[in-house]
Amino acid sequence: MKQISLTQFLIEEQRAKGNIKPDLRLLIEVVARACKAISIAVGKGALGGVLGDAGTGNIQGEAQKKLDVLSNEILLEANEWGGHVAALASEEMDHSYPIQNEQCKGGYLLVFDPLDGSSNIDVNISVGTIFSVLKSPEGVAQPGDDAFLQPGTQQVAAGYTVYGPSTMLVLTVGSGVHAFTLDRELGSFVLTQRNMQIPEDTKEYSINASNARFWEPPVQRYITELQAGKEGPRERDFNMRWVASMVADVHRIITRGGIFMYPLDSKTKAQGGKLRLLYEANPMSMIVEQAGGAATTGRERILDLQPQKLHQRVPVIMGSKNEVERVTGYHK
Ligand code: AHG
Ligand code: MN
Ligand code: MN
Ligand code: MN
Repeated sequence: MKQISLTQFLIEEQRAKGNIKPDLRLLIEVVARACKAISIAVGKGALGGVLGDAGTGNIQGEAQKKLDVLSNEILLEANEWGGHVAALASEEMDHSYPIQNEQCKGGYLLVFDPLDGSSNIDVNISVGTIFSVLKSPEGVAQPGDDAFLQPGTQQVAAGYTVYGPSTMLVLTVGSGVHAFTLDRELGSFVLTQRNMQIPEDTKEYSINASNARFWEPPVQRYITELQAGKEGPRERDFNMRWVASMVADVHRIITRGGIFMYPLDSKTKAQGGKLRLLYEANPMSMIVEQAGGAATTGRERILDLQPQKLHQRVPVIMGSKNEVERVTGYHK
């Protein structure tokens, strides 16, 4: 079988299909290259001396892992001279980072979660990288945090890399969702699935059930109904999975369906939720919608939200369409 590399796929998207501009193609290549470097660091584990805490914290009050910091540096360094972005923003940086060197400046904004699933690093469970690409506002020479406050519908590309038993990059440029597996010997991402589709129905749900007593009544009702199984109103049994790496949990849903929820609860209500809008919820929502799924906060479509803050948090309910619609309906 003829193999199609990420490079070849992107050139086809640009030339034959006109779905992307050349500089967006090159930006995605830079991100993919950085993800390969992160994959190598993650893969070395204890041998690379990369496990454990960095001894620092980020703006959201989380303790940073060494790999959080390293992955952030890898993405930053790769894109700083890449020449395709005007500014970058990340979970691990308090504020956005404008590109100073005029010769290295491009027309896009890149925002990322350099390492998703930090709590899983030290126990050798899948982690990931999430990224979102926006256009840099025209006529703004030095885009600051405000430039990033664009609704998710404005994303021109979104993707994630999951560092699991194999490393996979899943990408959308607004024309479906496509998966690439890293061929470690060749050092290149190879197209392994075109047009991924999330089944509309599912029997699998994903939620941190230890928070059950903090959930709002609509979510309590929904999960209680799933747990009642065959004997309950849903008249079938449901299974539960929670990796606690959003990338891995959503990747499972993109692959075989399911519903992923980090809903509003009384613990995180003051901050608006647990997951971050710009570099977790928005890119994952674009991917999920592009794969035929749905993504809401329980009340609104995530991609329609007007961000107010760079590190804004939101409730997240995404995945198989009929289930997302059902639980969203319970909120009405
Ligand atoms: P991050 O490691 O980038 O800070 O994100 C962690 C997130 C997400 O990946 C996951 O779904 C969730 O936190 C897990 O939260 P709990 O530990 O509350 O289950
Ligand atoms: Mn974190
Ligand atoms: Mn994350
Ligand atoms: Mn992270």
